[in-house]
Amino acid sequence: MKPFGPLALCASALILPGLALAQEAGSAASTASAGVYTAAQAERGQAQYSQVCAACHGEDMGGIDVAPPLTGTTFSGNWKGQTAAALANRIRTTMPLNNPGTLGIAASADVTAYVLSKNGYPAGQAELPKEPSRLQQIKLD
Ligand code: HEC
Repeated sequence: MKPFGPLALCASALILPGLALAQEAGSAASTASAGVYTAAQAERGQAQYSQVCAACHGEDMGGIDVAPPLTGTTFSGNWKGQTAAALANRIRTTMPLNNPGTLGIAASADVTAYVLSKNGYPAGQAELPKEPSRLQQIKLD
């Protein structure tokens, strides 16, 4: 038995901090299916989307040519498990592809809310925050 002692200790030292982290994340975070944007915000996002995104991604987000769909299995395959911060940041810094960085932080949150709405995530009582630190707490489940 003796030689296994240190090994077992070592294994639990690796596993326990992982568990603690997972619990911490679980208690601080919310999930997008809990309703993390408002209907009014998604409407603002829709106006933005029609103006600056629809030409490439399609009015229905179905995708056109090389611009991928922003709904359905393509979208969920890429984004499920990631945070709302990752998505909003991707949109804010790389889109619109022909003019990246022009949306601004508030409009990016609004457009992100609209994208969430088109992917079946429900509206809720509070707006999707624009601060990355708060978006980081929201998981796309
Ligand atoms: C000029 C065309 C064009 C415009 C305008 C445009 N996009 Fe894109 N978008 C693309 C292309 C092409 C890709 C894939 C290549 C890449 O990521 O650069 C993409 C990728 C994306 C992705 C990543 C999709 C995924 O699942 O990985 C998101 C999200 C996105 N666009 C959102 C938007 C939003 C929101 C807007 C409006 C603010 C917008 N795009 C405007 C062409 C465009």
